[in-house]
Amino acid sequence: MSGPPRISIFADERALARALTDRVAAALAATPTLVLGLPTGRTPVLFYEDLSSRVERGAVNLSRAATFNLDEFVGITAEHPGSFRHFMNGHLFSRVNLAPQRTHFLDGAATDTTEECARYEREIAAAGGIDLQILGLGTNGHIGFNEPAPALEARTHRVRLEAETRAANAQLFAGDPEQVPAEALSMGIATILQARQIVLVATGTPKAAIVERLLRGPITTDLPGSILQVHGDVDVMLDEAAAAGFRIS
Ligand code: GLP
Repeated sequence: MSGPPRISIFADERALARALTDRVAAALAATPTLVLGLPTGRTPVLFYEDLSSRVERGAVNLSRAATFNLDEFVGITAEHPGSFRHFMNGHLFSRVNLAPQRTHFLDGAATDTTEECARYEREIAAAGGIDLQILGLGTNGHIGFNEPAPALEARTHRVRLEAETRAANAQLFAGDPEQVPAEALSMGIATILQARQIVLVATGTPKAAIVERLLRGPITTDLPGSILQVHGDVDVMLDEAAAAGFRIS
């Protein structure tokens, strides 16, 4: 498939989550060994809830799949309640039939983060690449933790987080942006673009302006998500609120 991002607008977050779960369930039915790229954040919470319920009911089988999370904070262990691994365990992995060795994470506590990023790239390649990458979107236009910058890193790398991003993640750290680590490890832009299929999900009014710029504006490193316009197999799933600034022409 090739073309500009396909846009779907759903009445609310629940309907969107259901549709995303349908999409993942269909991909798993077609390819039981599916390699999934996964995001964290508020946006995918209902999707993980829906997917977990379907796995628990036996309607979806994740047991032969593999997952790679997009990013992780630097300087905290996997057990830290603010870590993305902790988030994923709570929202998905503790509820589904997926062996821990099939769930892949960056280790934010690694002493050599350069080697840790290189290891992650090797693991993704060894898994045959990512089949379906699900992405959220930062209000500053970031995907993964690829922040706006004069140049975007191609591969998995260490990144300094913007104040806006630390504030957006504060709920994982007792509501205090100062406690949010200042750095993270993230898949790079080329790592993300190498996924065979991409689904970007955005919900809520605060995302409306950035979604419109991402889809309608120029491709710019000031808005890292805008690079998705070149991929050729991207679905953008929005609720009505996130689609508010946007008119299908
Ligand atoms: C976080 C994550 C992203 C996520 C984004 C949006 O910082 N690194 O992967 O997509 O910001 O988060 P939310 O869904 O909470 O708006």
